[in-house]
Amino acid sequence: MNVIVVGSGIAGLTAALHAQEAGHAVTVVTKGALGDGCTGYAQGGVAGMYGPEDSASRHASDTISAGAGLSDPAAVAVLVQDAAARIAELIARGVAFDRSPEGELLLGREAAHSHARIVHAGGDATGAAIARALAAATRHAAITVVEHAFLADLIVTQGEARGIRVLVDGAVSDLAADAVILATGGAGHLYAHTTNPAGTTGDGIAAALRAGAAVADLEFMQFHPTILAEGPAFLVSEAVRGEGATLIDVDGRRFVFDTHPDGELAPRDVVSRAIARQAAAQGSPVRLDATMLGARMLAHRFPTIDRVTRERGFDWSEEPIPVTPAAHYLMGGVVTDLDGRTSIPGLFAVGEAARTGVHGANRLASNSLLEGAVFGARAAAAVSTPWTTSAASPSAETPSIGRGASPLPRVDGTPFSRAALQRLMWDDVGLLRTEEGLERALDSLTLWLSAAAAPVTVAEREDANLLLLAVSTASAALARTESVGAHYRDPVASPLLETV
Ligand code: SIN
Repeated sequence: MNVIVVGSGIAGLTAALHAQEAGHAVTVVTKGALGDGCTGYAQGGVAGMYGPEDSASRHASDTISAGAGLSDPAAVAVLVQDAAARIAELIARGVAFDRSPEGELLLGREAAHSHARIVHAGGDATGAAIARALAAATRHAAITVVEHAFLADLIVTQGEARGIRVLVDGAVSDLAADAVILATGGAGHLYAHTTNPAGTTGDGIAAALRAGAAVADLEFMQFHPTILAEGPAFLVSEAVRGEGATLIDVDGRRFVFDTHPDGELAPRDVVSRAIARQAAAQGSPVRLDATMLGARMLAHRFPTIDRVTRERGFDWSEEPIPVTPAAHYLMGGVVTDLDGRTSIPGLFAVGEAARTGVHGANRLASNSLLEGAVFGARAAAAVSTPWTTSAASPSAETPSIGRGASPLPRVDGTPFSRAALQRLMWDDVGLLRTEEGLERALDSLTLWLSAAAAPVTVAEREDANLLLLAVSTASAALARTESVGAHYRDPVASPLLETV
């Protein structure tokens, strides 16, 4: 079969390699260079290596409880059962995970994990090691790679995915396929502050929405708690807290225990909100205190963070560093079954672009690389099996695009720009949401959408994708009236401190 994989992070390249090894003719189409994207930025690691006290079922229950009970247990079971095989595959493809002098894999721990079970490479450079190894494997395999190609749209003929329309150097062309695997990542650039690299604009999810695929859970955007609150957004891995670093307020008090008994190791959504609220209350960023870990340990275990914090003027072995939350990971996406099949025959989705059901309302740390590898491999295995129409989860829902014309739009007349959209999403569809803020956001977004011209350039198409996803996200957030996981309805508006 002729298979097109769109995207070249861990999910896309795992799918491409497996499909090629199964005898398919594979083309990887990617927006940047091969291996660019979020995978290379991942610090913490890959969850799923179990020590003697640990097990796949403990990992599953941690995943489900971090997901606030909204995870699909069948998807979680697949995730943890396939973990060992996918980690072994990464090692076989050349990823040198960190080991003890005796050769044992070193296991890290992060928030909401009951055990240390996270393999890492280069200390805090796991994603970069994986991206390098998979890009090299792809270049050595009989896989066609088309770089710097923008996904303009999916080609759907008689209800089936039959290829993609791409924009390369300003020219539009069509690529035909028997199966299309979307691995285009998330949409962190919906927000004014994000850990995601430029280009994370939800292109695949937006194309799937336009094609009529079921998309769900867009209201669940994860905000990572600890971004360095100085300079361009830079992630300070949760693994730092896993090693014992603490979060302190202006008086040096560990304030997260006020909201959760696990303190700094509570689920990410809880810690992010606690940080945002504390920073607003004290009028300055909270601090991450890693001084107790010592200069040698910090430099050895977290070389990337050590370098960047020092470049920005902090000696984190001597003084606590200012941190603040930023948009990090989209739990929702294109709805799939356990093999990546979407609601459109011939179209698969894997990685952050997919909503497999694993993450529920809040992803457990270091489950994203694992999910990409597990479901990338499963989708590749499924491309040649007969399509089952019940593929996409029965809970699938396509969010409505806007609520129709509002008689009295509460908009301030700001013209559309990407920055204005990101600002609006940060203020009104962010960490703390109110009914009024969501309605205000949706009114502005709907107005912008109704006035939008047909996009031509890559930047215009990215803007159009962000706008479509913003409307869908605000609609989904408005429709979900309860607070759960990363979707938090504040009874009253709580302005947040602007720290990045
Ligand atoms: C981190 O290292 O804190 C990020 C890892 C993840 O998002 O899973």
